[in-house]
Amino acid sequence: MDNNMKFKDGFLWGAATSGPQCEGTFNKKHKNVFDYWYEVEPEAFFDKVGPEVTSNFYNSYEEDLAMLKSIGLNSFRTSIQWTRLIKDFETGEADEDGIEFYNNVINEIIKNGLTPIITLHHFDLPVELYDKYGGWESKHVVDLFVKFANTAFRLFSDRVKLWTTFNEPIVVVEGQYLYQFHYPKVVDGKKAIQALYNINLASAKTIKVFKENNYGKDGAKIGTILNLTPSYPRDINNPDDVKAAKIADAFFNESFLMPAIKGEFPKLLVDLLKEDDVLWESTEEELKIIKENNIEYLGVNYYFPRRIKAKEEKVDESKPWMPDKYFDNYEMPGRRMNPYRGWEIYPKAIYDIAINIRDNYDNIPWYISENGMGVEGEDRYINSEGIIEDDYRIEFIKEHLEYLHKGIEEGSNCFGYHSWTGIDCWSWCNAYKNRYGFIALDLKTQKKTIKKSGQWIKEFIK
Ligand code: GAL
Repeated sequence: MDNNMKFKDGFLWGAATSGPQCEGTFNKKHKNVFDYWYEVEPEAFFDKVGPEVTSNFYNSYEEDLAMLKSIGLNSFRTSIQWTRLIKDFETGEADEDGIEFYNNVINEIIKNGLTPIITLHHFDLPVELYDKYGGWESKHVVDLFVKFANTAFRLFSDRVKLWTTFNEPIVVVEGQYLYQFHYPKVVDGKKAIQALYNINLASAKTIKVFKENNYGKDGAKIGTILNLTPSYPRDINNPDDVKAAKIADAFFNESFLMPAIKGEFPKLLVDLLKEDDVLWESTEEELKIIKENNIEYLGVNYYFPRRIKAKEEKVDESKPWMPDKYFDNYEMPGRRMNPYRGWEIYPKAIYDIAINIRDNYDNIPWYISENGMGVEGEDRYINSEGIIEDDYRIEFIKEHLEYLHKGIEEGSNCFGYHSWTGIDCWSWCNAYKNRYGFIALDLKTQKKTIKKSGQWIKEFIK
């Protein structure tokens, strides 16, 4: 490891979390799809731990932010919950308590010398909007989201200079409509494709409102956050594997990346969807909005690569349509795994992403908005001073930074690195199974203790 890696002045070093994963539901007037799912099916969540308390940020944000500052970070991402900020979804009118809370949080972030980065949607669709309109299947919901975003910009863009419309929108499509890990756990490829389109439209319409109202006048910028999982074919000399990997990339990466940056959908994807008769419903006017309203910067969440091989078994055409008809996942022998999360560890992909953005996406300004390692049972690494010695996390981060640094040296326009996460937080259905933080959370007492990685990152940043 090259300990002398230099990153430019002003490089953002930080950590990310989201409203639903850290605040707790205290004093929240509406429920999102996870709040509701936990209410009706608590056993779907690890150890039946739900979203009510999480890491108690609603009550402890002052101490929490001071701790993040104390480990040397200069920036912090969280999200504003639609179900907390908004009183009336149809008008976008804000709730007084919601305004007060987010005002306090944003002021406190800034007071601690941290640059705030604020996400507007982190998997937290209001469940009422699913029940009434079908959630992201509906273009009315798209417009309601834009109203919420406009309210948030109006209230906070004097202080928030980096906004992001969505976090990992493809995960919403996968979780809600394909692979059943987000409520309502539907399996319906056609609806999935409409939701994919509608969320792209919501992001573009939000950018339009941001520009029209000149919220960027004091330097605020708007972007989006995508989880990029580069698809590597099993055998680069086998054209079928290569083609399958290209298609997987079009579905899982380019379906949001291209509209966000280039204003259009990948042709390969559109052609396949047309052929299969599952293409989304769109209008000329909407496509024009997508064309004209691109992001100003990109956040990339990177955890693991995708390995792909050509389909091995014939697809049963009587079954509902799924994108998986075009590829199989490939378990590469000898791949390095994080056994707790079941994710492959492959740091070089971060370099490949950097070069892809440089060469194929106009070298747009971008940053790593999430990267990290979830580990179960970290208590077994507690030393005599009560500190978790998470050397594996330090190694993981170092290795990824090395490849990121190489990408930057070769001209990729990356302005920051955020780890997931600062303080151990709640991870959807996995709840508190795997811990990711620089700071450990004792769930019973809510006591927070800096891990070895937290001490390390401080020195590294220096
Ligand atoms: C990401 C997601 C985060 C967090 C993380 C680790 O995909 O954006 O919300 O849950 O995974 O589980």
